[in-house]
Amino acid sequence: MPFMFKKFDLLAPIVENICLGGKYYRIRVEAPQIAKIARPGQFCMIRPQYSGESLLRRPFSIAAVRDGELLEFAYTAIGVGTRLISQSLPGQHLLCLGPLGNSFPVVEGSRALVVGGGIGIAPFPFFNRVLNQHRIFPNTYYGARSAEELIYIEELNQLSHILKIATDNGSAGHHGFVTQLLEKDLDESPSDSVIYACGPGPMMRVVKSIAERYGVPAYLSMEETMGCGVGICIGCPIPGVTPDGQTTYYLCCKDGPIFPSTVVMI
Ligand SMILES: Cc1cc2nc3c(=O)[nH]c(=O)nc-3n(C[C@H](O)[C@H](O)[C@H](O)COP(=O)(O)OP(=O)(O)OC[C@H]3O[C@@H](n4cnc5c(N)ncnc54)[C@H](O)[C@@H]3O)c2cc1C
Ligand code: FES
Repeated sequence: MPFMFKKFDLLAPIVENICLGGKYYRIRVEAPQIAKIARPGQFCMIRPQYSGESLLRRPFSIAAVRDGELLEFAYTAIGVGTRLISQSLPGQHLLCLGPLGNSFPVVEGSRALVVGGGIGIAPFPFFNRVLNQHRIFPNTYYGARSAEELIYIEELNQLSHILKIATDNGSAGHHGFVTQLLEKDLDESPSDSVIYACGPGPMMRVVKSIAERYGVPAYLSMEETMGCGVGICIGCPIPGVTPDGQTTYYLCCKDGPIFPSTVVMI
């Protein structure tokens, strides 16, 4: 019988939902069953309890586990689902299915290079903390449009060997793309490096090509619109290649969301 990962479908009480600035929000829910078994890089399918049957749940990376029983998500309110979540109040509930998907692998003895773009920074407070538990202190590279859109800065700084920032408009850190910072450091020393990345498509494409150029492994957390989150609706295909070079489709929710950069075509 195949090994089945445990998951829970909960009505999770909201304990906090705050605006971090602009369109960026952080929500915490009580979900001890999920919190206790969640691994970094995994996600939950969530929606407010009363949001109409037609609204599908949305996938959200687990940004942190607090006090062993609170799940934290970070999100941008951009469309119908995330705007509804942003209006949810403490005491109300989220429908929360998880933990789902695979997780970032911890490669012992490696130099971890963590790259987040925009809201793609969401899984890294959790992952960096787990890396620290393995005595790995990553270089974290974080790109955003402007200084106002940077979140988790203090926490990431504490959990990193070094935190390097890039902004599109130069209002904080390097004026330009976060991948330029990554490339510069790899130029100086590529050995033993492992890249972990989550962010917008164009950033992920550049990370994939940098990883290939320097011959370092990279794990990409891919984003795809999802229906069910568990591999039933076939709604989240990602084109890729099998280990023996055949073209194929992977399911983002079931086979991912984290893929070695060598197996996805982006
Ligand atoms: C594994 C996984 C983890 C994710 N984790 C997070 C997370 O931690 N935080 C988070 O905020 N989002 C995350 N997302 C994306 C999130 O699920 C979507 O942003 C969300 O579905 C948008 O829902 P919505 O109802 O607000 O927008 P919709 O109503 O579905 O879309 C509204 C508009 O926004 C555009 N849009 C939708 N999604 C995005 C996007 N990601 N970026 C830019 N434009 C978009 C659409 O094209 C449309 O124009 C994740 C996605 C995946 C697959
Ligand atoms: S979301 Fe249904 S199969 Fe992936």
